[in-house]
Amino acid sequence: MQRTTIALIFVAVYVSFASAQAPIPSRPDGYGVGGPADSHVVVEMFFDPLCPGCKASWPTVLQLIQAYGTRIHVRIHTFPLPYHTNSFVASQGLHVVANVTSRNLDSIFQYATKVFENQEAWYNDATKSMTMPQVVDSLATFVASTGLVTKDKFLAGMAMDDINFETRVSWKYACSRGVLGTPTFFINGVVISADPTWSLNDWKSVIDPILGSNDKVSTPVKDCPPNEKECTYAPHKTQCCLAGESCIPNVGCRCFNMKNGNKCV
Ligand SMILES: *[C@@H]1O[C@H](CO)[C@@H](O)[C@H](O)[C@H]1NC(C)=O
Repeated sequence: MQRTTIALIFVAVYVSFASAQAPIPSRPDGYGVGGPADSHVVVEMFFDPLCPGCKASWPTVLQLIQAYGTRIHVRIHTFPLPYHTNSFVASQGLHVVANVTSRNLDSIFQYATKVFENQEAWYNDATKSMTMPQVVDSLATFVASTGLVTKDKFLAGMAMDDINFETRVSWKYACSRGVLGTPTFFINGVVISADPTWSLNDWKSVIDPILGSNDKVSTPVKDCPPNEKECTYAPHKTQCCLAGESCIPNVGCRCFNMKNGNKCV
């Protein structure tokens, strides 16, 4: 009896470790547009369809896609936050639209656009007195009204275990990338400080130098003392570098050669 108990505890501990491991997605996570997935510049957005900051960033993301066309790849990943009620439902909805439309990217991005536009309908207090099936039904009715997917197909997809699992895998994938809030943006795998205040020009000031464009970038916003060098290392982020320090994009002033412990040369 005791032995069985101990064995069961071992099994329970093993299973909890095994399930703590994020599964490898069955295909590269997310949905991308523009150039190929291995384009010179890959912008990734981790978003929650019911997050106001994501909604605020979205128009600029669409402008970015327009402006660069096939010169960059823009990829979106769902990352529903636990403190945004119904976010998981709205995120699964994106995967349902992908499934029903055979991964039609236009439909997938349209879904994001439409849900952002109507975000308040499912956000926190708005659904306080609704049951989960009522919330799902409300989303399905809305999606049908946009003409993207019929209500029946949407509801069927929301009930599918595989698509629910796919939504979970996306969430775990985001965790494996260190994402902890939304929107989170990456360029070529590195987190960037982009937020809803970033304009298309701010994005260009980061992307164009990587693409090797000759366009003029970022305007100075800080006056540095005469012996210090101005370093605009990201949109709206400027530091004054001391003698010897280098200006590193997305990072700021850094010293790579210290002398006598604390002097940069
Ligand atoms: C849609 O989901 C079903 C059920 O999981 C799956 O068999 C099918 O391959 C999916 N289709 C697409 C295009 O993802």
